[in-house]
Amino acid sequence: MVTGASSGIGAATARALAAEGADVALIARRQSQLSQLADSINGQGGGYARCYPADVTDADAVRTAIDEAAADCGGIDILINNAGSGTWGPAMTADLADWHATVEVNLTGVLNTTHAALPHLCRAAANSDRGVADLVTISSIAGRKIPGAHSNVYAATKHAVCAFTEALRQELAGTHVRAGLVEPGLVVTELTTSGRRHAPDATHPTGYGLLQPEDIAHTVTFMVTRPSHVALNELLVRPTEQTI
Ligand SMILES: NC(=O)c1ccc[n+]([C@@H]2O[C@H](COP(=O)([O-])OP(=O)(O)OC[C@H]3O[C@@H](n4cnc5c(N)ncnc54)[C@H](OP(=O)(O)O)[C@@H]3O)[C@@H](O)[C@H]2O)c1
Repeated sequence: MVTGASSGIGAATARALAAEGADVALIARRQSQLSQLADSINGQGGGYARCYPADVTDADAVRTAIDEAAADCGGIDILINNAGSGTWGPAMTADLADWHATVEVNLTGVLNTTHAALPHLCRAAANSDRGVADLVTISSIAGRKIPGAHSNVYAATKHAVCAFTEALRQELAGTHVRAGLVEPGLVVTELTTSGRRHAPDATHPTGYGLLQPEDIAHTVTFMVTRPSHVALNELLVRPTEQTI
């Protein structure tokens, strides 16, 4: 199951997992993008894609989507908590509603999906041939450090999901649910190219190039395809030239 699968890192990750043979359940709000992605995955000859349009900030909708996906797919053994959004800019002039919206998607959304998926993940870890299940959360370099004052609330949400994931890792180790974090630097996606004020800007190519969604998708795929005794808990991935 991949949240935020309608664009960017989520869409690329769903493609990559399906190419490895996984059936993928796609969650996001934009139904038409999800359907297009599912059609293209289903024409590839790998795993089968199904759409579960939902807003991750709506706990009931998320639980319904996850339970339906588990019933349709015969369980859920990988959850990629990827849906995310952001607001950046000076605190002094910020709109409080934007702060709340960022917390709702980046933190509450992760809590909603994780809470609903955990019983399925634990069941899969106990019963599947893989012998493990995976819960991967897409945090950010901003979950490890503060890339600038304007990243205030975005960085706070990403630090929060890092803390939450580490606590989960400790709790779930014995159940063989591997809880891990992927922390991208600057990736070319809608988030970084749509011209949001003060947002990280990925519209200027460099000699080395910026990260593409596929780079993070490959990282996630590598993480969840390790042997059952190996847990990659945290992977920080920057473009070669990124200094902060
Ligand atoms: N791009 C970067 O440089 C970068 C760096 C570090 C970390 N990240 C993280 O990577 C993740 C993916 O972002 P991206 O860069 O790929 O940006 P993106 O292309 O804008 O993708 C964001 C995804 O999240 C979904 N989403 C947003 N709000 C949602 C909601 N309330 N309910 C359900 N889905 C929601 C969007 O789908 P809908 O609009 O269809 O709902 C979309 O599929 C985010 O967690 C982001 O913080 C990105």
